[in-house]
Amino acid sequence: MRTKIVAGNWKMNNNLSETNTLIESLKSQGNLGSTRVIVAPSYVHLAQAVSLTSDSSIEVAAQNMHEAKSGAFTGEVSPAMLSSIGIETVILGHSERRAYYGENDATLAKKVDNALDHDMDVIFCFGEELEDRKSENHFEVVKSQISNALFHLKASAWAKIILAYEPVWAIGTGETASPDQAQEMHAFIRNLIQDQYDASLADEVSILYGGSVKPGNAQEIFSKQDVDGGLIGGAALNAADFTTIIKSI
Ligand code: PGA
Repeated sequence: MRTKIVAGNWKMNNNLSETNTLIESLKSQGNLGSTRVIVAPSYVHLAQAVSLTSDSSIEVAAQNMHEAKSGAFTGEVSPAMLSSIGIETVILGHSERRAYYGENDATLAKKVDNALDHDMDVIFCFGEELEDRKSENHFEVVKSQISNALFHLKASAWAKIILAYEPVWAIGTGETASPDQAQEMHAFIRNLIQDQYDASLADEVSILYGGSVKPGNAQEIFSKQDVDGGLIGGAALNAADFTTIIKSI
């Protein structure tokens, strides 16, 4: 059985007291069921978030990390730094990192390797832009993003990989891929992994959908066979909304 996961990417939102409040209200929502729940606050609040969630099943992830192990990279954060404060999961390849900070497949392949070297789980994001979909190039784009950054991995490394399909045109826009569009892409991705590795590995990989998931549409999207949960942006900033999304699985 694949693991069901709902992860909240808080992006550059919430100061320290807002971070505390949001985590405390998530904890007060009661039993979140068997779904793996992950929140990704800003770097500066990660240690505090790890401490606040230590008495709950909520996990804490980083939104990014550097591809090098250490060195003269002013302003950057290494996986060893994250590990040392109890972070075991990192989001890599978010479209905002690709668009605004020039992260490409080659850099992301290095980041993935570095995270795995530190025994971290990786939530690897990818997805096509609107132009790609309009020109019916979306499958090719997704194929190259996944194969360039991940297909050098040994089969055994995939136990640490969580995929997150996030069509760029659906992120923060209020426009969601239809449940059928999500299912179609997720099935394509699973086939891709099966072709490169094997059917049992493909069957074990959790593939999340991200892009304007809200309490009102989560259930229908999550009901699709190859959708194993979601990566949530805006709606993850509200404890009640995030909880409703978690419980929609
Ligand atoms: P959104 O963001 O839910 O606000 O569309 C999703 C994401 O960027 O991961």
